Amino acid sequence: MEARAMSESRTIQTKLVLPPDTNHMESIFGGKVLAYIDEVAGISAMKHARRHVVVTASIDSVDFMSSAKVGDVLELEANVTSTGRTSMEVYVRVKSINLETGEERLTTESFLTLVAIGDDGKPTPVPAVYPETEGEKLFFESAPARREYRKNRVKTPR
Ligand SMILES: CC(C)(COP(=O)(O)OP(=O)(O)OC[C@H]1O[C@@H](n2cnc3c(N)ncnc32)[C@H](O)[C@@H]1OP(=O)(O)O)[C@@H](O)C(=O)NCCC(=O)NCCS
Repeated sequence: MEARAMSESRTIQTKLVLPPDTNHMESIFGGKVLAYIDEVAGISAMKHARRHVVVTASIDSVDFMSSAKVGDVLELEANVTSTGRTSMEVYVRVKSINLETGEERLTTESFLTLVAIGDDGKPTPVPAVYPETEGEKLFFESAPARREYRKNRVKTPR
């Protein structure tokens, strides 16, 4: 399977924060942002794997650095940063934009692991990914450490 450039999976989504997405203080629910993150990561992984079926195996910790209010815009950017045999690590960065002032703030960022599913309903191999820019190289080279961390976390007895 031919390796694909990281940029090929780049996906950008823009969402307007509406009243049903927010609490009584007009701040967006964290769960809503998570749903957006899951969606954009899924599209990015589907682009990379060129498959319609991918599932989210895990979402790394998500810290909310700032909120977004009704009328703000959320911009989500995702791309595949590394791959295993059947899994893809996807990085998602979310920023909020105040359309009146133009102020942009980082809302959150996270890494997700998505797995490509074959026609038999089982995990199926995905192409490798390669970085092209210096920024992409940083994500790519730090991926094995994150993968190792996840493996150990899953092994932790509950
Ligand atoms: C994720 C899932 C497909 C893994 O299936 P499995 O039978 O355990 O398959 P495998 O053990 O072969 O793992 C497949 C890949 O997933 C990775 N994986 C499995 N669990 C993982 C986890 N918790 N975090 C990160 N990666 C994980 C494995 O490392 C492996 O990657 P690799 O092929 O690149 O080495 C399966 O657990 C599943 O379907 N989970 C539910 C997914 C879902 O429905 N998500 C939506 C929200 S509920």
